Amino acid sequence: LVLVVDFGAQYAQLIARRVREARVYSEIVPHSMPVEEMLEKQPKAIILSGGPSSVYEPGAPTIDAAIFRAGTPVFGMCYGFQLMAQGLGGTVAATGAREYGRTPVTVGHAGTLLGGIPSQHNVWMSHGDSVTAAPEGFEVLATTESTPVAAFENVPAGMAGVQWHPEVLHSEHGQRVLEHFLWDIAGCRQTWTIGNIAEEQIDRIREQIGTDGRAICGLSGGVDSAVAAAIVQKAIGDRLTCVYVDHGLMRKDETEQIERDFVAATGTRLVVVDAEKQFLDALAGVTDPETKRKIIGREFIRTFEAAEADIMKSAPAGTTVKFLVQGTLYPDVVESGGGAGTSNIKSHHNVGGLPEDLEFELVEPLRTLFKDEVRLVGEQLGLPPEIVWRHPFPGPGLGIRIIGEVTRERLDILREADAIAREELTRAGLDRDIWQFPVVLLADVRSVGVQGDGRTYGHPVVLRPVTSEDAMTADWARLPYDVLERMSTRITNEVREVNRVTVDITSKPPGTIEWE
Ligand code: XMP
Repeated sequence: LVLVVDFGAQYAQLIARRVREARVYSEIVPHSMPVEEMLEKQPKAIILSGGPSSVYEPGAPTIDAAIFRAGTPVFGMCYGFQLMAQGLGGTVAATGAREYGRTPVTVGHAGTLLGGIPSQHNVWMSHGDSVTAAPEGFEVLATTESTPVAAFENVPAGMAGVQWHPEVLHSEHGQRVLEHFLWDIAGCRQTWTIGNIAEEQIDRIREQIGTDGRAICGLSGGVDSAVAAAIVQKAIGDRLTCVYVDHGLMRKDETEQIERDFVAATGTRLVVVDAEKQFLDALAGVTDPETKRKIIGREFIRTFEAAEADIMKSAPAGTTVKFLVQGTLYPDVVESGGGAGTSNIKSHHNVGGLPEDLEFELVEPLRTLFKDEVRLVGEQLGLPPEIVWRHPFPGPGLGIRIIGEVTRERLDILREADAIAREELTRAGLDRDIWQFPVVLLADVRSVGVQGDGRTYGHPVVLRPVTSEDAMTADWARLPYDVLERMSTRITNEVREVNRVTVDITSKPPGTIEWE
């Protein structure tokens, strides 16, 4: 276990991911955690992350210097590097020389940390203060034009640090720097593999649920709930029942794919609830986005509760369904401030926010995983690539991709257009370059067109392909023109009601990924 101490910047999660990419398990802890508590976890190493730009800023977070005397290897990055210099008796000065963004560094003496890395390379910096003298016993490894000490190490003490952000993509050789620290200085072993993750989780779930416990899981069609269910199925077999609510707002073939491929791959007991009519009736006449979302959420809960009651009734006498499987990921856990292992149900965005009074104990097999790890576990468990590599699809489905009232007819139009766009994206081999690709029907807008010899008066669709790392921010994807052309030609030819195709070129912010 490697602990990443979070000093409040955006970087801790990225560092934790990079550590795992080096096949060493990592967890994030807040800087406010007492050092004794960190050490009780018996970490093999501790990484101090970036943070505010100056250790002299009023209220800047700090860390008890006892951390440097515990005999545990420590690596400091950026702000963490300065805290380390300060805590170990070096000098940090506000030299007035600031470095932001791409900065060339010169490696003077590579030592262990920078071994084999080119003596001139570019890294990503973000700091105001500089370390001007390394602590005693530390060797200076690198400098920049304005920073006399940009990297140092004390190998016998297991300590090292760099002024830059090795975890970001823009820092050349960053992953190697991190690996040199983890493997060669801290002596961490490379045991965190996808095979181990799956096995460990299966064992843990088996223990949690016990030998006769029963669980249910709401499947959304997305990768998270599918992988969570697959893990639990491996742990407890058919004591797990999955519920899939088909609200009629799914994309083309989505429900069939879950019924067919998911069940074939996992052997899970699946209850599919056909609730299309119920949802469309409830949505009739509604155009306001928030109202649509509320209605869909409410109907979802009703349907899920009814299905759950049925499953309870059919459970063997003397047993109850006590566990609810959720696909919560590590970023959700970190963002909500950690929290204990299991608790009573809280709202879950993937299944539309289940109510507080469903009294279940939660089973969350993905609580320690990042999205990319979830996909790898899914592959390991034999889930088909169509599920594992699926783009995120929101709970309210196509209901929030029809601008205007949602009707069966409009859904069918959108389903056709969406299926063509997806097919062409796949054909171009671009699925994994794109984070998400909503296709939006402007159902209340019409425009004039000409097709064959006749005038048309049809609807526009909007293509909204985006790139992103976490959906918090996004950029519009620069799809090749020929791919866009094929999408446009096919959609206008094959979907009679659509006579115009447009591309959304708005980043997030200011636009959101979805239109509603
Ligand atoms: P926006 O549109 O706000 O969305 O940029 C960010 C990400 O969240 C997804 N999204 C949802 N997912 N239930 C979900 O499960 C929802 O109600 C919901 N609304 C938005 C959206 O598709 C994108 O990936």
